[in-house]
Amino acid sequence: MKILVVASEVAPFAKTGGLADVTGSLPKEIKQRGHDVRIIIPFYKTVAKGGFPIRKGRKSVEVALGGTTHKGLLRQTSLADIPVYLLENKEYFHRDFLYGTPAGEYPDNARRFAFFCRGVLDILKKMDFRPDVIHCHDWQTALIPILLKYEFNKDPFFEKTAVLFTIHNLAYQGLFPRKSLAEMGLAPSYFTMERLEYYGQVNLMKGGILTADLINTVSTTYCKEMQTPEHGCGLDGVLQTRSDDLSGILNGLDYTEWDPATDRHILKNYKSSALAGKAVNKKGLQKLLGLEQKRDIPLLGMVSRLTEQKGVDLLVELLPQFEAEKLQLVVLGTGDARYIKLLQDFQRHGAKNVSLNIGFRPELSPMVYAGSDMFLMPSRYEPCGLGQLMALRYGAVPVVRKTGGLTDTISDFRDDVKEPNGFTFDEYSAEAFWDAIMRAVHVFGDRAAWVKIVRRGMNCDFSWQRSAEKYEELYLRGVAIKKG
Ligand code: ADP
Ligand code: GLC
Repeated sequence: MKILVVASEVAPFAKTGGLADVTGSLPKEIKQRGHDVRIIIPFYKTVAKGGFPIRKGRKSVEVALGGTTHKGLLRQTSLADIPVYLLENKEYFHRDFLYGTPAGEYPDNARRFAFFCRGVLDILKKMDFRPDVIHCHDWQTALIPILLKYEFNKDPFFEKTAVLFTIHNLAYQGLFPRKSLAEMGLAPSYFTMERLEYYGQVNLMKGGILTADLINTVSTTYCKEMQTPEHGCGLDGVLQTRSDDLSGILNGLDYTEWDPATDRHILKNYKSSALAGKAVNKKGLQKLLGLEQKRDIPLLGMVSRLTEQKGVDLLVELLPQFEAEKLQLVVLGTGDARYIKLLQDFQRHGAKNVSLNIGFRPELSPMVYAGSDMFLMPSRYEPCGLGQLMALRYGAVPVVRKTGGLTDTISDFRDDVKEPNGFTFDEYSAEAFWDAIMRAVHVFGDRAAWVKIVRRGMNCDFSWQRSAEKYEELYLRGVAIKKG
């Protein structure tokens, strides 16, 4: 099959979260299964400055948005032999951030991603590349199935092209005021309940859900949850109308990239059968961050976007308790200004055992996974979560809230399961979170029991193989739909 992956971020070129990990690794697995896979993303400043070998293409696009024509150039790089097309438009993409600054989203995001989606469809024709499946990810790409359904439905070029729309996070929907329709080059007729209208606004995620041939999300539990009012972010009803075409496929982790036995970012490599190197990483992390270099004190790590989703309010509430306890806490994160401020306010009074690191630092995150004994993920909701999978792989035992993909990957030590690999809690409260942490700290005191759970986590298999097979099945289903 010919597959085009369309996304707003792909690791290592541009990344703000797990979406990039997925779009940067799943295509490799699909390629290995013998398919022609290609990727397209915007040519952001981070890509331009990232030191990647980039070729300037000869192809260009012209996109009409709200009365003006915007030009774009196609550039190209690659990811393990997979062509990665980069759509350039300096005005839209040569900026310091992907979607907005810590103070808020860029005000022209509707226009930016409309340019991208329309540009993608235009460039496919210019390259004469007809994908069997366009695999779209999240709201930034939702306009593609919408346009294919309503504007290109009579175009023979796309007649046999199916769209799979993957939802990584239902909370980000691409909600814009009515006037943005014109900015995206869409006729007023799109503003109906059957199409994009949503409580007086334009909702791209809704449009994507209604128009894609197939839809999936990134774990089976989140797939069920998002069809309920509690987790549906207002779109549960819309999702239910497509339930026959909706499925959940757990994300995998790129086990060649994320491997403590070979990772060059960490101080000493190690594996589950030879854990000595992990202690070296712990000591190194303690030294790097100015923490006391002690082996027996439990070191708790957290690497996360600082947003409401991630349970940062629980973390903030517990900071004084962390400070008072015999443990060390390392946080690496960036995100909402209000959380950054709360963490910085706490940091100012100089807790000796708490290290709060604000910023997006891909070179530091492996050191946190490798150096930590436990990894915290108290998410309010979690479509899949890759942080806990990385933690497992690096022998940091996950302490997580039982929700979404965390439910599907982490089982609690006290549960009556054969192979517990972490600690979980149900209720979204600081008390429940703290209770789970304390249970983990208690088991940490029993070296033999602890090593057993560490090893078991490291030996879990959350690699892509099984999940990529499921994506392949969905692609085939898409092809079958188009055959009619
Ligand atoms: P989400 O996509 O919701 O942010 P995931 O757990 O799926 O959550 O993926 C998060 C990814 O982003 C992981 O690869 C994690 O290591 C990375 N990450 C998050 N915050 C940072 C940060 N401040 N610095 C470096 N990497 C980060
Ligand atoms: C989203 C979700 C996260 C998921 C990631 C990749 O950002 O918040 O749970 O792991 O996408 O699918």
